[in-house]
Amino acid sequence: MKISDIPTPAYVVDEKKLEENLRILKDVSEQGGCKILLAQKAFSMFAEYPLIGKYLDGTTASGLYEARLGAEEMKKENHVFAPAYREDEIDEIASICDHVIFNSVSQVRKFGARVSEKAGRPGGIGLRINPECSTQDHAIYDPCAPFSRLGVTIGNLENALREDDGFWSLVSGLHVHTLCEQNSDALEETVRVIEEKFGKYLAQPGIKWLNLGGGHHITRDDYDRERLIRIVRHLRDTYRVEVYLEPGEAVALNAGYLVTEVLDQVDNILTTLLLDASAACHMPDVLEMPYQPPLKGAVAVPRIEDPEAAKTAGCNTDIPDKNRISDPDGCPVQEDSHIYRLSSCTCLAGDVIGDYRFNHPVRPGDRLCFEDMAIYSMVKNNTFNGMALPSIWKMDAGGDCILVKKFGYEDFKGRLS
Ligand SMILES: Cc1ncc(COP(=O)(O)O)c(C=O)c1O
Repeated sequence: MKISDIPTPAYVVDEKKLEENLRILKDVSEQGGCKILLAQKAFSMFAEYPLIGKYLDGTTASGLYEARLGAEEMKKENHVFAPAYREDEIDEIASICDHVIFNSVSQVRKFGARVSEKAGRPGGIGLRINPECSTQDHAIYDPCAPFSRLGVTIGNLENALREDDGFWSLVSGLHVHTLCEQNSDALEETVRVIEEKFGKYLAQPGIKWLNLGGGHHITRDDYDRERLIRIVRHLRDTYRVEVYLEPGEAVALNAGYLVTEVLDQVDNILTTLLLDASAACHMPDVLEMPYQPPLKGAVAVPRIEDPEAAKTAGCNTDIPDKNRISDPDGCPVQEDSHIYRLSSCTCLAGDVIGDYRFNHPVRPGDRLCFEDMAIYSMVKNNTFNGMALPSIWKMDAGGDCILVKKFGYEDFKGRLS
């Protein structure tokens, strides 16, 4: 079936694009001499794990369930990091994970010896550090923001080492995750600070690996991969450690679509199109981050806040073209410019995906296709208001779509009681 025919709403993963990303990552891992893991929190479509496993070294997880998924479906190196583990899950985690990474010295003290005994495989125990080096503006995605709970600061590590109770001898690697959709210049700055603060610990013979986390937008066109490779080689050569990267976004960047149908329209100065997809349910990052996803055949424009501006911006289809002055992004309005607000069927007034400019009218019954919808979409969706979960499809290199999974009422009911 072609993407134009599949029932909506639907996530469609583009395997050609996914494989292009994977080839880039494989090349980085070969040239840099590092290992690259899939961060499942971003993309857990395990139907694609056989393909991903051909190129990457394994998976990383945020807790027991993702760790189980990686063990069952990828069956390669399996790592886990969680801010804190539960007493009743740590033994199972240790039995299926190669690296168990702790967020605090107290967690190493509590579980470290137990994990060392249970762990069936080498690699062992890691400690997440916080270099306290912010390189980005998204406060909610910044583990280096003031008062962060993520990772051990150099001050806390050195205080703990003074107690000398043996926890350090259990640690065989360091983990750091500070980036979000960033280029390798931010990594370079972060690594400089890591070396300054933690270099002497990294150089100790007991430390065998360094995991540089995710947030590296390696597969983006403007990403400087040569610099990443240089940084990885430098760390390997200087500290004699195995280097790991665990990107999520970069694995499936621009490799998925969310296909939706326009169900109705409401004209209230601005014309809002009501879709069978929802930001709140099917692309929560649009509201949380926030960001505006690209839409095939349309241009995202800044949100129109002021009704007067809407009247002159050509948003209302009732307004003759000659009365339109300019788009809110400053472009002169063309004869065929139509601006719509895209929203959903939930009760949440703010469940708005964004304002978009089309060069043709859009009507109920038309289909729209949001891009870059593989990452942080399926893994975060929900059935608020009883909204249907989009079915999941994969599209092969020839453009044929195959249904992987569809959901119905039972999936909604099954999570309730
Ligand atoms: C510890 C850790 N590793 C890896 C990732 C993946 O990051 P990204 O999807 O931005 O590459 C995250 C994302 O939050 C993370 O917290």
